[in-house]
Amino acid sequence: MCGIIGIIGTSEVTERLVDGLKRLEYRGYDSSGIAVLKGGVLNRARAEGKIKALEARLAEKHVDGSIGIAHTRWATHGVPNKTNAHPHISGRAAVVHNGIIENFIELREALSKTRKFETETDTEVIAHLVDDALNAGLSPIDAFSQSLKKLRGAYALSLIIDGQDDTMFIARSGSPLAIGLGEGETYAGSDAMALAQLSNRLIYLEEGDWAVLTKDSYHIFDENDVPAERPISIISGGPAMAEKGNYRHFMLKEIYEQPETIGRTLSNYIDEFRVKADLPDALSFSHIDRIIIVACGTASYAAMVAKYWFEQYAGLAVDIDIASEFRYRKPVLMKNSLFIAVSQSGETADTLAALRYCKQAGIKTAALVNVMTSTMAREADIALPINAGPEIGVASTKAFTSQLTALAALTLAAGRARKTLNADMETELAQALIQTPRLVSEALKLDPKIEAMSDDLSKHSSAFYLGRGPHVPIAFEGALKLKEISYIHAEGYAAGELKHGPIALIEDGTPVIVIAPMDELFEKTISNLQEVASRGAHILLITDKEGAAFAEAFAHELLILPTSHAFTAPIIMSIAMQLLAYHAAVHLGTDVDQPRNLAKSVTVE
Ligand code: M6R
Repeated sequence: MCGIIGIIGTSEVTERLVDGLKRLEYRGYDSSGIAVLKGGVLNRARAEGKIKALEARLAEKHVDGSIGIAHTRWATHGVPNKTNAHPHISGRAAVVHNGIIENFIELREALSKTRKFETETDTEVIAHLVDDALNAGLSPIDAFSQSLKKLRGAYALSLIIDGQDDTMFIARSGSPLAIGLGEGETYAGSDAMALAQLSNRLIYLEEGDWAVLTKDSYHIFDENDVPAERPISIISGGPAMAEKGNYRHFMLKEIYEQPETIGRTLSNYIDEFRVKADLPDALSFSHIDRIIIVACGTASYAAMVAKYWFEQYAGLAVDIDIASEFRYRKPVLMKNSLFIAVSQSGETADTLAALRYCKQAGIKTAALVNVMTSTMAREADIALPINAGPEIGVASTKAFTSQLTALAALTLAAGRARKTLNADMETELAQALIQTPRLVSEALKLDPKIEAMSDDLSKHSSAFYLGRGPHVPIAFEGALKLKEISYIHAEGYAAGELKHGPIALIEDGTPVIVIAPMDELFEKTISNLQEVASRGAHILLITDKEGAAFAEAFAHELLILPTSHAFTAPIIMSIAMQLLAYHAAVHLGTDVDQPRNLAKSVTVE
């Protein structure tokens, strides 16, 4: 969602704030702004649109100072325009905020009796509350902490006060926020990415924490205003990891990184010497009767593939849910269940709420995440890394295949613990996983062919993706990728389900992408392919060599991916989904890395 950065030091901050915003732009890019204090005087610059619009605004009229806060917005309350852009100022207080203040209407009504509101945002109430408290004679620290007590909802916020250029106030409840430590400077940021150029020593605030920062000190208080100590994390990776290199888009770079990123995931979960799954001791499947996997978007499709795997290879019952439904459904939880949250960011608000729900109910929880400093990783009983490295493109690619890889390894461990897999079977499946990076490299060589195919796809306004078994979620993922970056309407469907209604939408030339590597369901999928082909659909068959030999005649276009074990085929098929969507979007000239209306990390519900 929105991104926040703050700097308090002695030298000028604007250029570095804008640089930080660029690193955070993947979180939201509707509008942006900064507020700085120079000689105690508050100045602000804001602009609608991307950060470059803010840079243009600053080039016209530069503002600077030794303390400043900045924000890139993903609109929730109020349209994306300059007026609604953060920072919001009331009197002496300027604030940037990520999250939603749920009781803002009631606060706004009360404050409106004496104060004039300028924006449609929920955030503006925070600036008014603090300014009101200052006017009532409270000290800045009391004005800030007492205002926090009146807020309900989710927030990460950073606030500065006119006349007070030696102090910054920050707070976290529901949305992540970190303090960065520098030499004679202190920082605040939504995540490590924001502060990558500035500091690798970060302190993550915990729920309800708030803090007072000066250039060379920080004081953290918990939700009861008691001084609190929080550990310092040393962040590895550095700024280079967030660069595009020679690639045109982050998404393409991340697609091409997959042989390496899958390899990194494997090295965490597979003992390549013994060819066996190798999991953290804390994660045991011996006493587990059921797994509950909860996630959103692409991560939920990885979870759906894993359901097929856990059931088939470990005989383990699996419930899959999308987090926004799970958290309000009052799900019935069984003892001896294992809850797994799957999330690239580890911050998705609904998935985090589901994790907390299960933890509170006494269920063992694990978080499979890419960001190991995230809230989910810190709150789950067991944090499971996927090690894909920073994913900047809003459309998830390398995180998806690493999630699949890690879940596949978990399946092997579960099968061994439950004795549904003997040693030979486990070795066979582990071997298949070990070969995945090489097969993904082979699949990437088909890029020029996929690019050519995507040209025709990009000319249509609607498409279907069909699959069976574990390729149903891959069809969902293919359709999601196409929708989110090319804005072409797409439906992923179970191939056998189409004739129960959606087949009515098939007309002459409708593109139907059929995902069907040779497996035990292959013939059934090909029958479904023929059902749509005979109604005029234009068929793009994505299969392997054996499948192509059998079904070539039924397809208008054919993509032959490297032959893999049926177990790992969903990972290989995903590569074609990603490249097809990517090139269709490039043909259409959309903003691939920052598609309209989306944000990378959805920290509001
Ligand atoms: O960070 P998370 O994995 O929890 O994010 C979940 C979804 O928001 C995310 O996968 C989203 O669907 C992506 N835009 C898909 O490409």
